[in-house]
Amino acid sequence: MLSTAQQLKAAQGYVLATLAEAGVTWDDADAQAFRARFDVGFPRLFRLFATLYGEHEDCLDHLAKLIGLSLASWQERPGDLKTLDRAREAEPQWFQSNKMLGAFCYVDRYAGDLNGLKDHVPYFKDLGITYLHLMPLFDCPEENSDGGYAVSSYRDVRSDLGTMEDLRALAKDLREAGISLVVDFVFNHTSNEHEWARKAAAGDPEYSDYYWIFEDRRMPDAYERTVREVFPDDHPGAFVQMEDGRWIWTTFHSFQWDLNYSNPAVFCAMAGEMLSLANQGVDLIRMDAVAFIWKRLGTTCESLPEAHLLLQAFNAVCRMAAPSLLFKSEAIVHPDEVVSYIDPEECPISYNPLLMALSWEALATRDVQLIDQAIARRQPIHPECAWVNYVRSHDDIGWTFADEDAAELGIIGFDHRRFLNAFYTNRFEGSFARGEPFQYNPKTGDCRVCGTTASLTGVEAGDAGGIDRMILLYGIAFSAGGIPLISLGDEVGQLNDHSYKDHPGQAGDQRWVGRPMRPDALYDQRTDPTTVPGQIFARMKQLIAARRAAPALAGNAIHSFDTQNRHVLGYVRTGDGPPVYVLANFADTPQALDAQRFLATAPRMTDLIAGEAFQMRTGLTLKPHQILWLG
Ligand code: GLC
Ligand code: GLC
Repeated sequence: MLSTAQQLKAAQGYVLATLAEAGVTWDDADAQAFRARFDVGFPRLFRLFATLYGEHEDCLDHLAKLIGLSLASWQERPGDLKTLDRAREAEPQWFQSNKMLGAFCYVDRYAGDLNGLKDHVPYFKDLGITYLHLMPLFDCPEENSDGGYAVSSYRDVRSDLGTMEDLRALAKDLREAGISLVVDFVFNHTSNEHEWARKAAAGDPEYSDYYWIFEDRRMPDAYERTVREVFPDDHPGAFVQMEDGRWIWTTFHSFQWDLNYSNPAVFCAMAGEMLSLANQGVDLIRMDAVAFIWKRLGTTCESLPEAHLLLQAFNAVCRMAAPSLLFKSEAIVHPDEVVSYIDPEECPISYNPLLMALSWEALATRDVQLIDQAIARRQPIHPECAWVNYVRSHDDIGWTFADEDAAELGIIGFDHRRFLNAFYTNRFEGSFARGEPFQYNPKTGDCRVCGTTASLTGVEAGDAGGIDRMILLYGIAFSAGGIPLISLGDEVGQLNDHSYKDHPGQAGDQRWVGRPMRPDALYDQRTDPTTVPGQIFARMKQLIAARRAAPALAGNAIHSFDTQNRHVLGYVRTGDGPPVYVLANFADTPQALDAQRFLATAPRMTDLIAGEAFQMRTGLTLKPHQILWLG
């Protein structure tokens, strides 16, 4: 039996010998730079690889192949990206700045194609955006591709959007404007039109092993006993039948085939796709659907320990071959699970679905207990990591708070979600919201909510508090830490778009209601203060400017602040510089806070957003839905 150190040494020797056999030499500076990172990173990658794939006879051959393709990818990496690698190495925490501001859009819906998007770069820069997430833009099935989340080739841009060359050119333009490019790495599944999927469908055994395919219902039945249904409208359970009668795992739509990561060939192939993406000039990749990437019989097949090891292994590969590339996890699951992916060696950046959902929850209930509890309990993360705080994504709003947290406050999770769903889909009297229900599951009573921010906050319904509610929510996302994210179009109050019902590929998917085309007419009004878009835009710009000027909002340190008022949320941000107290009134009525609350603050503070000064020793009163950043 070899010791761990001996095994490592043997493996390293084997990998280097295999590379030498393939003609690899280490004599130029470029190869040496890789070799230095290999020497540092290999022990970790080996440990992960051995844990995941140690039982495969050819484990080391796969590992050698992986290192070989990483080296080749590094050697192909353009010089300007290597310069960026060095800059990021010198300042690894660059993304923690209060000057960071994220935004996302669909290329086609916002600008027609990649070249069209270039014309908007000056606007993005002017707005203060430093991080732009473009929704999936790679080759995918024509009619329904789940908004591009069914990828048919990771190496080809969807033809109506442009070419890989256009993508590289855009990435360059963005970088020159100080904007990092973010794209998805949809790595849990491919589309059924991917070359690998076509070969699997044709019965090729090598590629059948790239997916979870079974001859009959025996295994699918066994797995389905413990696996949840993510898209029950599309198909029951987790499997669909293939044309030849076999059954294939599809967590999402029937055309999104889950990759089989228990096969090391799949890991190596996908690592190659990831690195080729990195070399296009992508700064950050959004790791899609991370919770689902590993399966084991008898479990929920979500967030299994191996899912973490896989992400760490992908991360270790990047550290060698594309060192500046950062991972953002997309785990819209229980808060404990969300946090479990956040680690400098796994995903240093993560969506914050809990704060997002609970902001909406407090808006509906006018009560801040749950969000206050979450800030106290569930926001701290590793200091080198960051949340992405958002008001809404391109997806549904799911009520992913922990039932056990709610129970402590006397709230029954199931009933509360029913209330929230009814409220946001306008089935509750007096609701200001105009959302649509998504994926109602009669078996569990579960559903989620879709719509744009303006439609869900009451702007669409003409409710007098609509704009204030939008600013309240964005005021929280902009001040709660990490990287705030704007859904482009929200800054001018884009409304729900019901035209998806006429598109065969979208009609069954209510999430499209919240994915409107660029609202040109609203953008045209954005400088006119007599219009609704003009008012929203002016106030969003105020938030952006105030954030840029407040170093206390950098990083993620956040402390809850007890306002002793059920309607008013309070927290303190202590990034760099003097603290900022955030107070947010979720009620429709003015709310007074007692002077006793502010004995420890400066006697006089100023709202960094609107500039109003407050004498803290006399207490203060917030207007309905008002948010203050006191500094
Ligand atoms: C992510 C995406 C979502 C997509 C799913 C499957 O959750 O945000 O739009 O449907 O992954 O890829
Ligand atoms: C995500 C989530 C699910 C969400 C879906 C897309 O991965 O887990 O709750 O609704 O994908 O909308």
